[in-house]
Amino acid sequence: MQYAIKVNNLKKSYNENQVVKGINLQVKKGELFALLGPNGAGKTTTIHMLSTLLKPDGGTVLIGGVDVVKNAKDVRKKISLTGQFAALDEGLSGLQNLMLIAKLHGYSNKQARSIANTLTQSFDLFEARNRMVANYSGGMRRRLDIAASIVTQPDLIFLDEPSTGLDPQSRIQVWEVIRSLLKLGTTVLLTTQYLEEADQLADQIAVINKGTIIAEGTPNELKASVGEKTLSFRLTKPYEHKKICSILADQHALSVFEDDDPLVFKIPVIETRLANDAIHTLLVNEVPLDEFALGEPSLDEVFLALTESKHEEVVR
Ligand SMILES: Nc1ncnc2c1ncn2[C@@H]1O[C@H](COP(=O)(O)OP(=O)(O)OP(=O)(O)O)[C@@H](O)[C@H]1O
Ligand SMILES: [Mg+2]
Repeated sequence: MQYAIKVNNLKKSYNENQVVKGINLQVKKGELFALLGPNGAGKTTTIHMLSTLLKPDGGTVLIGGVDVVKNAKDVRKKISLTGQFAALDEGLSGLQNLMLIAKLHGYSNKQARSIANTLTQSFDLFEARNRMVANYSGGMRRRLDIAASIVTQPDLIFLDEPSTGLDPQSRIQVWEVIRSLLKLGTTVLLTTQYLEEADQLADQIAVINKGTIIAEGTPNELKASVGEKTLSFRLTKPYEHKKICSILADQHALSVFEDDDPLVFKIPVIETRLANDAIHTLLVNEVPLDEFALGEPSLDEVFLALTESKHEEVVR
């Protein structure tokens, strides 16, 4: 099978600092592949190597079977890159930005105007098309950015943190835009720090941390690989955290994780029976339980289990 992207043992160092440590990736045509990782994980460095902007120190990258180092020019014809930091001309309107890009790609003035008009409609920017980009909101810029990346209808699009810094509503609009790219059959590789974004959009997720892929699979496989269910419960009123932790640790050898909400606790459990036992014990001890639920771990919890670096574990 020919992959849209095939990466083998890719490496990059800056001075003594190896920031991409021999990663392997395979992205199928038409799928959305998410590279999920925290700040400094090596996401942008990787995407720059995949899109010919940065030369790898080692390993190979094939885009549609074509080598990014040996045939960079051919690769560039197939791809489009939307960077982490938007590259729009602030002094031009949205429509003018899109027309400029279309003309740079050899379209006539008339064709360019038609393409730009259609794109502003598809990306909910038609009303604002004649306003200067300097006056656009973050969400509008991001949508224009993605619109700009598909002026030439590439087979493969790289999106580096497409929704970072956007409010929830703009983020959802950007997701809609990305879903519409997938419907056209475009392959998308995006990077994100948002577990929810990867969960919402991705067919495949690779979790990258400190230059290494630490897990890979579909959102469901990643959750299953952690091998646990999560019991979440909420209290009716504040209650001593330590007491809950020690009751569950002593009687069931369970760990308790705090949530941002002080009334909410989460407990990873290996089997349903343990969740029953835990609830029973809490009720016997008159812990003021309000509601509880047993579910698949969220990607957040998967990431926690994989990197052991987020959230504070109250009791081990
Ligand atoms: N040009 C450079 N020179 C030296 N070090 C660099 C350079 N670019 C990136 N780095 C370092 O490489 C590491 C990976 O950076 P990279 O930008 O790829 O991370 P990232 O996953 O995209 O992070 P973010 O989520 O913050 O965008 C970081 O430690 C960064 O400081
Ligand atoms: Mg980055």
